Amino acid sequence: MKHTINPSRRRFFAQTGAGLLAYAGLPGWLHAMEGMGEMPKMTPKKASANFHPDVEINLICKPSSVSILPGQPTQVLQYSGKLVKGPANTLTEIPGSYLGPVMRFEKGQKIRINLHNQLDEPTVAHWHGLHVPAEQDGHPLYAIDKGETLVYEFEMLNRASMNIYHPHPHNTTAKQVYHGLAGAILVNDDEERRLELPGGEYEVPIVIQDRLFDANNQLQYVRQMHDRMMGFYGDRILVNGRPDFKLDVASRAYRFRILNGSTARIYKLAWDDGHSDTSIPVTVIGTDGGLLETPVNKPYVMLAPGERLDVWADFSGRKVGSQLVLRSRSFSGVLPGMAERMMTGKHGGDDQPHGGGGHRMGMGMHGSALPVGSDYPIFTVRVTKNISDSPALPNKLSTIKHYTLGDTANPNKPVPIAISEGPMRMVLNGRPYAYNDIQPSERIPFNTVQLMEIFHAHGGHGGDKAQGEGGHRMGMGMRHSNDSGDGSPKMGGMGGGGMGMMMAMAHPIHLHGQYFQVFSRTVSNSDSQSYASVKDGFIEGGWKDTVLVMPGERVKIIKPFQDFKGLYMYHCHNLEHEDMGMMRDFLVE
Ligand code: C2O
Ligand code: CU
Ligand code: CU
Repeated sequence: MKHTINPSRRRFFAQTGAGLLAYAGLPGWLHAMEGMGEMPKMTPKKASANFHPDVEINLICKPSSVSILPGQPTQVLQYSGKLVKGPANTLTEIPGSYLGPVMRFEKGQKIRINLHNQLDEPTVAHWHGLHVPAEQDGHPLYAIDKGETLVYEFEMLNRASMNIYHPHPHNTTAKQVYHGLAGAILVNDDEERRLELPGGEYEVPIVIQDRLFDANNQLQYVRQMHDRMMGFYGDRILVNGRPDFKLDVASRAYRFRILNGSTARIYKLAWDDGHSDTSIPVTVIGTDGGLLETPVNKPYVMLAPGERLDVWADFSGRKVGSQLVLRSRSFSGVLPGMAERMMTGKHGGDDQPHGGGGHRMGMGMHGSALPVGSDYPIFTVRVTKNISDSPALPNKLSTIKHYTLGDTANPNKPVPIAISEGPMRMVLNGRPYAYNDIQPSERIPFNTVQLMEIFHAHGGHGGDKAQGEGGHRMGMGMRHSNDSGDGSPKMGGMGGGGMGMMMAMAHPIHLHGQYFQVFSRTVSNSDSQSYASVKDGFIEGGWKDTVLVMPGERVKIIKPFQDFKGLYMYHCHNLEHEDMGMMRDFLVE
């Protein structure tokens, strides 16, 4: 290896523990880490004299402590905000939460944010979902050290929507988000205002996260390699930073602005009012990129890390004292079968391939108290007040221009985003993240609309051939790790599609820059029980910036690259995957 091990890489090895060294896939793993340590540092940008902000915010990230569980307070990292200039409703603290203040902006506003780092490590803030110039987007290149201040200046070009702010430093995004650094951004515009949707106390942000606490109420994070490969899962659901969240409502319509701020956990959201004979649909009015054209009723909705939902929840006619629970309902197939069985503690069974691989890979020796895909409550709504009048759900919400292939610059040659899955090797287009490693398929001509295709390079299904340049590279990568010499894990006897198939899992793929539209989803295992347990939970027809790609699935998206040149990241929003290198840059030029 030509690179020296830098401090962050050394820390990584220390965290993963000795068990990893016993794992025979090490050469592939080392390969995946190659180049990850190198990220140049830019001089932090200062305020420019010719930018005249309508809104200015000082945003500080610092260690802090909050009371979450009874007993000892929990050490966290936290954004705190101070409004320097602008409308008084720009920042709203969430009482008792480690989350940063909710930021509310108006389309067209000129915004300056002064990010000040008081952490003992580098950080940078990214405005997930916002359409901003590349140098304002929070690329790890712009990370600042303790004591430094980075000034962001941009105009709000987004339509009304819910977005996120969170750190994006090289290799440590997940850890910082997990420890508390995140917040919601709400954008308003005229199109939305005309609808007179529920506002004020009737518009409620719902940030869903999972966390794992030790006996002293302190946050536990990645303990073993498995926690990175599959993503890290807590055993407790927090809403807006609070456990056992309860919301008291009046008997009228509410607007729930839901955001999955977990690092890895995927939810299947559904209402439960305790009567199994009635099913209450989830009424979705918006997705990542704002309002849909018309409301959609779903039996349940899938929500992966980084995704948002705008939900109309009407409690009209419900009796004072009645309750409703938003639950995550049971589903399967988002984790590799082996990991899923181990998480649920279902050992044994004749199809269980954990004879060799499982133990060597350090894949959870213990089950989780809250397996992904199990059925558990998210929060409880209690009707405490009777109100007779309520706004009605508009049947027309917004106008969306739907892209067709004819709008794209490359209708016959989609830009590939190949998901590579292998032990110790979760990457995109066959290459782990590296700065300044732009491949030909990653050069996007400025001011074009692009067709892109996200697929599992080794979906393990006939006809799932990797294609294009990225796919080809991935093929080589896979061979590399299978041929990794002595003591390679023997994957024989696993049946089916071998390693790729065995490791296939769901990935929420996120692209920076403008929102995109999902053009098509095709799945090779549409008849499988697993797929059937999630398939009715995808919302079509809206603007997105993160899309959940299930095992066996190919998703075509159409995405504009307008207004700004430069580097825009794309990555898995399973943040443990992102930090393992499942991220790349597009260069818009
Ligand atoms: Cu929400 Cu690049 O991330
Ligand atoms: Cu983002
Ligand atoms: Cu992933």
